Amino acid sequence: MKLSHRLDKLPPYLFVEINRKITEKQANGEDIVSFAIGDPDIPTPQHVIDQLCRAAHDPANHRYPETVGLPELRQAIAQWYQRRFGITLDPGKEVLPLIGSKEGIGHISFCFIDPGDVALVPDPGYPVYSTSTILAGGEPYFMPLTEKNDFLPDLEAIPEKITEKAKLLWLSYPNNPTGAVADLDFFQRAVRFARKHNLAICHDAPYTEVAFDGYRPPSFMQVPEAKEVGVEFHSLSKTYNMTGWRIGMAVGNTQMINALFRFKSNLDSGIPQAIQQAAIEALNGSQDCIAEHNIIYQRGRDELAKALNSIGLRARLPKASFYIWARIPQGYTSVEFATELLDKANVAVTPGVGYGNAGEGYIRLSLTLSDDRLEEGIKRLLDWNKARRA
Ligand SMILES: Cc1ncc(COP(=O)(O)O)c(C=O)c1O
Repeated sequence: MKLSHRLDKLPPYLFVEINRKITEKQANGEDIVSFAIGDPDIPTPQHVIDQLCRAAHDPANHRYPETVGLPELRQAIAQWYQRRFGITLDPGKEVLPLIGSKEGIGHISFCFIDPGDVALVPDPGYPVYSTSTILAGGEPYFMPLTEKNDFLPDLEAIPEKITEKAKLLWLSYPNNPTGAVADLDFFQRAVRFARKHNLAICHDAPYTEVAFDGYRPPSFMQVPEAKEVGVEFHSLSKTYNMTGWRIGMAVGNTQMINALFRFKSNLDSGIPQAIQQAAIEALNGSQDCIAEHNIIYQRGRDELAKALNSIGLRARLPKASFYIWARIPQGYTSVEFATELLDKANVAVTPGVGYGNAGEGYIRLSLTLSDDRLEEGIKRLLDWNKARRA
């Protein structure tokens, strides 16, 4: 059997050793508190589940769906964008439902990147921007996100020999893993930059609804010229706790939406229709769950950040997303520090370097735990700190 060279080019999975340890410990009956996974543990809202169950009984939903999605779903997405961000989208041309946003993020690289092309990718960042670039035969150029720049890329610092070869610019705010946010002024600058260098922008925005202290993150699409140069990926995963149902969307530039549709219609046959109907209910129905979840995350954010700062890490309070990006004490790499917490405290966190070289020196902690697991995790961190100081 001969596998493709393409697969050899993928970077090694950095968490192999840590994951092996977690599995081994669990097999030995040890209890691990995991802050490592960005997957809400709160169930999908009941009215959405009820709709999914009703839809599952309808034989019309037992057949192949259309890749383009139900017209009612595209309409519901456009109306949701209108209500939430005041943006008008044409549901026929500017909206494309996805099997989770990851699917579209992975596939759009193939619509733009040929061998030798470059995609501008944030570092640290969600790994799929760079891995899909590599799978398409291109090269990621990593734009460092630093604390000094509020975790925004310095677009003007990108060398001209790179912008000449670049075709895509990836951005994502509210940001995973740093929890940073961007304002419309930054998005406006990104649009100007994209126009100047003839680039397409992909803005990945699954966390706009997870926000704290009254802050409401903007959509990239709110910039008047955004539609000319880019699309935004969004998702029902984090907003409505629907990571398991797999549904998201791309909205914006007609040409990009059409290219993505053409590509993916050759590979998949759409989103199961019962899930599409559940998504319509989520988008059109009561939005109360969003505020309710944010109260829970905000409480966890405050408690966890306080505990981390008290044991010598530097944790900023994120305004949005459910991640705390914490600077680790000197003398450790992020993998060493995460391993130490796992070995000595039975607490799992994600080493920052897993999101790119500029993530070295940090760990990411997710707030998607129940209150009692979060309390237990905090207790273990405090005990570990006491023991190492004793
Ligand atoms: C930044 C970012 N983009 C995209 C996704 C993918 O979300 P989904 O495929 O569930 O819509 C995630 C999931 O963790 C993410 O953190």
